[in-house]
Amino acid sequence: MGLSVRNVTLVYNAPGGGVLPALGPVTFQIESGSFVSLVGPSGCGKSTLIRILAGLQEPTRGEAFLGDIPISGPSSRVGLMFQDSNLMPWRTVQDNIALPLELGGISKQERYAAVENLLPTLGLSDFGLAYPGELSGGMAQRVAIGRVLIQKPEVLLLDEPFGALDALTREQISVDLLEVWAQYRQTVLMVTHDINEAVLLSDRVLVMSQRPGQIIADIPVTLERPRCLEDIYSDVFGKTAQQVRAAIGR
Ligand SMILES: Nc1ncnc2c1ncn2[C@@H]1O[C@H](COP(=O)(O)OP(=O)(O)OP(=O)(O)O)[C@@H](O)[C@H]1O
Ligand SMILES: [Mg+2]
Repeated sequence: MGLSVRNVTLVYNAPGGGVLPALGPVTFQIESGSFVSLVGPSGCGKSTLIRILAGLQEPTRGEAFLGDIPISGPSSRVGLMFQDSNLMPWRTVQDNIALPLELGGISKQERYAAVENLLPTLGLSDFGLAYPGELSGGMAQRVAIGRVLIQKPEVLLLDEPFGALDALTREQISVDLLEVWAQYRQTVLMVTHDINEAVLLSDRVLVMSQRPGQIIADIPVTLERPRCLEDIYSDVFGKTAQQVRAAIGR
């Protein structure tokens, strides 16, 4: 299931009157099963765009589509993840991951079976009964990814999902995400500030301008898959990262 936006514009009411053009117009399409990253300066409208695609906010103008269907509200086919993992400290790892199923009225037995299946993929096999306070930052973020994946979404919207992590943990967990994606092939749109991360994971990198953000470059990443961390030392990688950096203008 692909994603697309057509002439999407978002204008906020500015504090104290007046208007604040935050985004657009933007038009692009993401093919079903492809991994696309979105980079751009702070405040250019990336999170706004994610919220529009998640059905949490209506564009001022233009339209967003999930497949062929105009987006009019949140969908269970879409998994959404923000920078802050937002785990519930009083629930175990398995109960945090199973939360969406619990809210959906799925039986305890089915919930735990689904979590049991997912834990090895997340590298959390022995931690189902642990509490968030007993986890490292990277592990907590994996639990948050699990909570998104448990619903088997066809589309993932990730807004700086690894922003709070240190560089090494972040590298490792992004490679883990790549493995999960290779298995399920969701359509992914990921916002990141990290150019290397964008290039390593993506089929395409979209670059946005300053607010109101517009797409100023759409850069294909031709690195072969499956990819691994060592790919960042390759020629193709260096050239692509350079292209992205040049498009951002720094
Ligand atoms: N609810 C809101 N009301 C008014 N203005 C808002 C609101 N949310 C965001 N804005 C403004 O819209 C612009 C875009 O914000 P947005 O959060 O989409 O940027 P961003 O690209 O995600 O930035 P960052 O990289 O810092 O996360 C900013 O100028 C921000 O001040
Ligand atoms: Mg943001």
